[in-house]
Amino acid sequence: MFKIAVLVSGGGSNLQSIIDTISTSKVGYEISCVIADRECYGIERAKKNNIETKIFDRKILKKDISKKIDEYLGNRVNLVVLAGFLSILDEEFINKRRRRIINIHPSLLPKFGGPGMFGMRIHRAVMEAKEFESGCTVHYVDAGIDTGEIIEQKKVKIEVDDTAETLQKKILVEEHKLLPKAIRKLMKIN
Ligand code: GRF
Repeated sequence: MFKIAVLVSGGGSNLQSIIDTISTSKVGYEISCVIADRECYGIERAKKNNIETKIFDRKILKKDISKKIDEYLGNRVNLVVLAGFLSILDEEFINKRRRRIINIHPSLLPKFGGPGMFGMRIHRAVMEAKEFESGCTVHYVDAGIDTGEIIEQKKVKIEVDDTAETLQKKILVEEHKLLPKAIRKLMKIN
Protein backbone atom coordinates (compact mmCIF):
# COMPACT_ATOMS: atom_id res chain seq x y z
CA MET A 1 0.00 0.00 0.00
CA PHE A 2 1.24 3.49 -0.92
CA LYS A 3 1.38 5.50 2.29
CA ILE A 4 1.09 9.25 2.69
CA ALA A 5 1.53 11.75 5.51
CA VAL A 6 -0.59 14.90 5.31
CA LEU A 7 0.74 18.09 6.92
CA VAL A 8 -1.77 20.80 7.86
CA SER A 9 -2.00 24.10 9.75
CA GLY A 10 -5.62 25.10 9.28
CA GLY A 11 -9.11 23.97 8.39
CA GLY A 12 -7.97 20.88 6.54
CA SER A 13 -10.59 20.86 3.80
CA ASN A 14 -7.97 19.49 1.41
CA LEU A 15 -7.16 16.76 3.92
CA GLN A 16 -10.89 16.01 4.01
CA SER A 17 -10.95 15.67 0.22
CA ILE A 18 -8.25 13.00 0.46
CA ILE A 19 -10.10 11.21 3.28
CA ASP A 20 -13.34 11.28 1.27
CA THR A 21 -11.65 10.05 -1.90
CA ILE A 22 -10.11 7.12 -0.02
CA SER A 23 -13.45 6.20 1.56
CA THR A 24 -15.46 6.36 -1.66
CA SER A 25 -13.11 4.72 -4.17
CA LYS A 26 -10.34 2.15 -4.29
CA VAL A 27 -7.42 4.51 -4.64
CA GLY A 28 -4.62 2.23 -3.54
CA TYR A 29 -3.15 4.66 -1.06
CA GLU A 30 -3.78 5.44 2.60
CA ILE A 31 -3.08 8.20 5.09
CA SER A 32 -0.56 6.97 7.68
CA CYS A 33 -0.66 10.10 9.78
CA VAL A 34 -1.67 13.75 9.88
CA ILE A 35 0.87 16.20 11.28
CA ALA A 36 0.16 19.80 12.28
CA ASP A 37 2.34 22.66 13.47
CA ARG A 38 -0.42 23.92 15.81
CA GLU A 39 -3.84 22.93 17.11
CA CYS A 40 -6.19 23.22 14.16
CA TYR A 41 -9.39 21.83 12.73
CA GLY A 42 -7.40 19.62 10.34
CA ILE A 43 -6.29 17.60 13.37
CA GLU A 44 -9.92 17.22 14.45
CA ARG A 45 -10.86 15.92 11.02
CA ALA A 46 -8.09 13.31 11.24
CA LYS A 47 -9.15 12.21 14.72
CA LYS A 48 -12.78 11.86 13.60
CA ASN A 49 -11.52 9.44 10.97
CA ASN A 50 -9.29 7.49 13.36
CA ILE A 51 -6.12 8.64 11.67
CA GLU A 52 -2.95 8.93 13.74
CA THR A 53 -2.17 12.57 14.55
CA LYS A 54 0.84 14.44 15.86
CA ILE A 55 1.32 18.13 16.63
CA PHE A 56 4.75 19.72 16.50
CA ASP A 57 4.23 23.24 17.85
CA ARG A 58 5.99 25.70 15.56
CA LYS A 59 6.14 28.36 18.28
CA ILE A 60 8.03 26.06 20.63
CA LEU A 61 10.17 24.17 18.13
CA LYS A 62 10.93 27.03 15.73
CA LYS A 63 13.70 25.88 13.31
CA ASP A 64 13.79 22.40 14.86
CA ILE A 65 10.35 21.56 13.46
CA SER A 66 11.75 19.90 10.30
CA LYS A 67 14.08 17.71 12.35
CA LYS A 68 11.25 16.62 14.64
CA ILE A 69 8.95 15.79 11.72
CA ASP A 70 11.80 13.95 10.02
CA GLU A 71 12.46 11.82 13.11
CA TYR A 72 8.76 11.09 13.50
CA LEU A 73 8.27 10.09 9.86
CA GLY A 74 11.46 8.12 9.34
CA ASN A 75 10.85 5.90 6.32
CA ARG A 76 7.22 5.13 7.01
CA VAL A 77 5.61 7.05 4.14
CA ASN A 78 6.04 7.13 0.38
CA LEU A 79 4.80 10.69 0.01
CA VAL A 80 4.49 13.81 2.17
CA VAL A 81 1.53 16.02 1.22
CA LEU A 82 1.52 19.65 2.35
CA ALA A 83 -2.13 20.67 2.48
CA GLY A 84 -2.22 24.17 3.92
CA PHE A 85 0.94 23.64 5.99
CA LEU A 86 2.42 27.02 6.89
CA SER A 87 5.81 26.13 8.35
CA ILE A 88 8.80 26.11 6.03
CA LEU A 89 10.61 22.76 5.91
CA ASP A 90 14.39 22.99 5.83
CA GLU A 91 16.69 21.88 3.00
CA GLU A 92 17.86 18.77 4.80
CA PHE A 93 14.28 17.51 5.10
CA ILE A 94 13.53 18.36 1.48
CA ASN A 95 16.73 16.91 0.00
CA LYS A 96 16.12 13.67 1.84
CA ARG A 97 12.73 13.33 0.16
CA ARG A 98 13.35 14.56 -3.38
CA ARG A 99 10.14 14.27 -5.48
CA ARG A 100 8.41 12.76 -2.45
CA ILE A 101 6.97 16.01 -1.02
CA ILE A 102 4.15 17.87 -2.74
CA ASN A 103 2.25 21.06 -1.99
CA ILE A 104 -1.05 22.53 -3.11
CA HIS A 105 -1.17 26.25 -3.85
CA PRO A 106 -4.26 28.28 -4.80
CA SER A 107 -2.93 30.10 -7.86
CA LEU A 108 -1.57 29.31 -11.29
CA LEU A 109 2.09 29.06 -10.31
CA PRO A 110 4.58 30.54 -11.06
CA LYS A 111 2.12 33.43 -10.82
CA PHE A 112 1.21 34.63 -7.32
CA GLY A 113 3.57 32.37 -5.41
CA GLY A 114 6.60 32.95 -3.21
CA PRO A 115 7.24 34.41 0.23
CA GLY A 116 4.17 35.99 1.84
CA MET A 117 1.80 34.57 -0.76
CA PHE A 118 -0.66 32.57 1.28
CA GLY A 119 -4.36 32.61 2.15
CA MET A 120 -6.46 35.55 1.01
CA ARG A 121 -3.37 37.55 0.07
CA ILE A 122 -3.08 35.45 -3.07
CA HIS A 123 -6.66 36.01 -4.21
CA ARG A 124 -6.53 39.74 -3.42
CA ALA A 125 -3.34 40.06 -5.45
CA VAL A 126 -4.96 38.20 -8.36
CA MET A 127 -8.00 40.51 -8.28
CA GLU A 128 -5.82 43.63 -8.03
CA ALA A 129 -3.82 42.48 -11.04
CA LYS A 130 -7.13 42.22 -12.96
CA GLU A 131 -6.40 38.69 -14.11
CA PHE A 132 -8.94 36.88 -16.27
CA GLU A 133 -8.19 33.53 -14.74
CA SER A 134 -6.62 31.96 -11.69
CA GLY A 135 -6.64 28.40 -10.35
CA CYS A 136 -4.64 25.94 -8.32
CA THR A 137 -1.39 24.05 -8.64
CA VAL A 138 0.06 20.88 -7.14
CA HIS A 139 3.84 20.92 -7.31
CA TYR A 140 6.89 19.14 -5.95
CA VAL A 141 8.48 20.92 -3.02
CA ASP A 142 12.06 22.06 -3.56
CA ALA A 143 14.28 24.37 -1.52
CA GLY A 144 12.50 27.49 -2.81
CA ILE A 145 9.01 28.70 -1.92
CA ASP A 146 6.39 27.58 -4.47
CA THR A 147 9.14 27.00 -7.05
CA GLY A 148 9.10 23.21 -7.48
CA GLU A 149 8.17 21.40 -10.66
CA ILE A 150 4.45 21.49 -11.45
CA ILE A 151 2.56 18.18 -11.32
CA GLU A 152 -1.05 19.25 -11.93
CA GLN A 153 -2.78 22.56 -12.53
CA LYS A 154 -6.43 23.56 -12.93
CA LYS A 155 -7.64 26.90 -14.27
CA VAL A 156 -10.63 28.80 -12.90
CA LYS A 157 -12.25 31.62 -14.89
CA ILE A 158 -12.68 34.94 -13.10
CA GLU A 159 -16.12 36.48 -13.71
CA VAL A 160 -16.83 40.24 -13.55
CA ASP A 161 -18.71 39.92 -10.27
CA ASP A 162 -16.05 37.79 -8.57
CA THR A 163 -14.35 39.05 -5.43
CA ALA A 164 -11.26 37.67 -3.70
CA GLU A 165 -13.64 35.75 -1.42
CA THR A 166 -15.75 34.17 -4.19
CA LEU A 167 -12.59 33.34 -6.10
CA GLN A 168 -11.12 31.58 -3.08
CA LYS A 169 -14.27 29.46 -2.76
CA LYS A 170 -14.32 28.57 -6.46
CA ILE A 171 -10.66 27.59 -6.41
CA LEU A 172 -11.05 25.52 -3.25
CA VAL A 173 -13.67 23.36 -5.01
CA GLU A 174 -11.08 22.61 -7.71
CA GLU A 175 -8.31 22.02 -5.15
CA HIS A 176 -10.38 19.26 -3.62
CA LYS A 177 -10.38 17.41 -6.94
CA LEU A 178 -6.84 18.26 -8.01
CA LEU A 179 -4.99 17.08 -4.90
CA PRO A 180 -6.37 13.50 -4.84
CA LYS A 181 -5.79 13.35 -8.61
CA ALA A 182 -2.13 14.35 -8.19
CA ILE A 183 -1.57 11.83 -5.37
CA ARG A 184 -2.96 9.06 -7.55
CA LYS A 185 -0.73 10.09 -10.42
CA LEU A 186 2.36 9.97 -8.19
CA MET A 187 1.32 6.66 -6.71
CA LYS A 188 1.22 5.17 -10.19
CA ILE A 189 4.68 6.39 -11.20
CA ASN A 190 6.34 5.48 -7.90
C1 GRF B 1 -5.58 25.90 0.45
O1 GRF B 1 -6.07 26.98 -0.29
C2 GRF B 1 -4.24 25.45 -0.10
O2 GRF B 1 -4.11 25.61 -1.47
C3 GRF B 1 -3.28 26.37 0.61
O3 GRF B 1 -3.81 26.51 1.91
C4 GRF B 1 -5.23 26.30 1.87
C5 GRF B 1 -5.54 25.22 2.85
O4 GRF B 1 -6.93 25.04 3.01
N1 GRF B 1 -1.94 25.87 0.58
P1 GRF B 1 -7.49 23.81 3.87
O5 GRF B 1 -6.83 23.89 5.24
O6 GRF B 1 -7.13 22.55 3.15
O7 GRF B 1 -8.96 24.04 3.95
